[in-house]
Amino acid sequence: MLFCRKIPTRTPIYNSCRSRLPALCRFLSTATDTSTSKPFYITTPIFYPNAAPHIGHLYSLVTADIFARFTRISEPDRLVHFLTGTDEHGLKIQKAAKDRGIEPSVLCDALSEQFRRLGNRANISSTVFLRTTEARHREAVEHVWRTLTAQDLIYKGTYSGWYSISDECFYTDSQITHLPSSLTPVSIETGSAVEWSSESNYKFRLSSFQERLLDYYTTNPKSIYPSAHRERLIQTLKDEPLDDLSISRPRERLTWGIPVPGDMSHTMYVWFDALTVYLTGVGFPAEQQGSLWPPNIQVIGKDIVRFHALYLPAMLLAMGMPLSHTLLAHAHWTAQQRKMSKSIGNVADPFDAMDTWGVDAVRFYMARVGGRFRDDVDWSPEQLEKHADEIRSLLGNFFLRITSRTIQKRVVSVPQLTFVQLLDQSLNGPNGDVLSSLRNLKGRVEQCMEKFEVGDALDAIILVLREANGALTHTAPWSIQSPPEAAQVSYLLSLEVLRVTGICLQPFIPEAARNLLDALGVPKAERNMDAAAVGKGSVGEVKGVKLFEGKREIASGGQ
Ligand code: MSP
Repeated sequence: MLFCRKIPTRTPIYNSCRSRLPALCRFLSTATDTSTSKPFYITTPIFYPNAAPHIGHLYSLVTADIFARFTRISEPDRLVHFLTGTDEHGLKIQKAAKDRGIEPSVLCDALSEQFRRLGNRANISSTVFLRTTEARHREAVEHVWRTLTAQDLIYKGTYSGWYSISDECFYTDSQITHLPSSLTPVSIETGSAVEWSSESNYKFRLSSFQERLLDYYTTNPKSIYPSAHRERLIQTLKDEPLDDLSISRPRERLTWGIPVPGDMSHTMYVWFDALTVYLTGVGFPAEQQGSLWPPNIQVIGKDIVRFHALYLPAMLLAMGMPLSHTLLAHAHWTAQQRKMSKSIGNVADPFDAMDTWGVDAVRFYMARVGGRFRDDVDWSPEQLEKHADEIRSLLGNFFLRITSRTIQKRVVSVPQLTFVQLLDQSLNGPNGDVLSSLRNLKGRVEQCMEKFEVGDALDAIILVLREANGALTHTAPWSIQSPPEAAQVSYLLSLEVLRVTGICLQPFIPEAARNLLDALGVPKAERNMDAAAVGKGSVGEVKGVKLFEGKREIASGGQ
């Protein structure tokens, strides 16, 4: 199609394109084809408001946001429902409030607000922020409890074992250890202190779901990503009998929570309460649940796989509801190669990071370094700086070089080529390599995102930008030594690289990508993956602007 530069109005161009370009017409008319898909439902874990948010929380949010935004540009007519929020009940919050000498509700109000602010600051495009202290959530949890009770899946029993307040988790003898350095025993897996509990509580017949869960994970390869978690879970389900799960605590021990329906002497176990939030988020128990449920992707940290892969599915199976399509379990961020912890004093503050480097630089770093999800990664200001420089230079400086006055003057002085004419010139050398990588980019990004390989999707985009920067330096269109026609080819190709990579970068660095697409004059309707094919979109009047907040891009390249 026509590659339009300095166009006074768009409508005539579209009209003329329509008559000559069947591909574009197809794009315009099929844009609504996905309207029949189930809405895309994505969730983050809900965060404990017992302390200020840290980098790990932002990582869950950014990861989910990348998929939410990618879905919006891949299927522009599909509704995206994106839940996040705060997990406000339980012993951990009760204790944190007591330690501060305030009511739990006061603590939750203050800290929940910080998580909401974190999402806003980081440009997280969530559509619902839910607090488990809301009345609509209590109604949903009570409904689940009653449904399971009606099926005789809840009974009153006793529990003798270990409990960690910090993990809000029950542990057996074999899951704890006595360290010489610690007065209390600790969980082997998390290192958190545990205490002995012997009490009567309500139990959920988790054991009766063992076979069905095993069958589900064996036959659904996409149910958990990365697959190592699924393989481990299958092994556990084969090797160890599932115990029934305690789902209440005596009221005198836990006051801050939802009372068990019909038995005020017990409070619901916080995970039973919290896991139901994903249902509350789609309006459960009202009759419309069918349309949004189940979640397409649930982003969680590796430490909470068991809760999401065993307890929640068992609850759903019990209620006859479909299970989530995919649990995406990310690894953790460490600091100085150690677990982040307040006592070590190595907790990275996400607000500080965004204030210092800018939101997109932090998002870019998280996706580029943490986008493989498999191994823990170390949070490092030096690495953040390095990656922020990488994207500022490859995208921001590249854009500034292209929009420099020297190039603009040289390009205007030769007969204007259309992009189609440019494509006809069968480019070779570095320009040919750039064009061929650019042609493959859309497919490559889509393929990676389909496989949850966020890091690889970003790699593919960076590779194209790197090649394009190299080709631009090679042609040096700003230099009088480069023939004017070569300058124009280089200019048009670079604009197309910016347009296509700008579209693909929207999920990762939304603000800089929007600045770029605005500056290129790319119409809003052409900012989706369909238009990320070479030659399948237009640019308008190009304006040189700064793309990233924070540090300035510095134009380089001999101008
Ligand atoms: N409230 C529970 C989740 C209930 S979901 C129904 C919870 N909250 S949390 O605040 O402790 O953790 C929320 C998320 O942050 C989890 O996915 C956890 O894995 C993630 N992270 C916490 N520390 C982290 C790092 N250091 N690095 C990366 N993510 C980590 O668990």
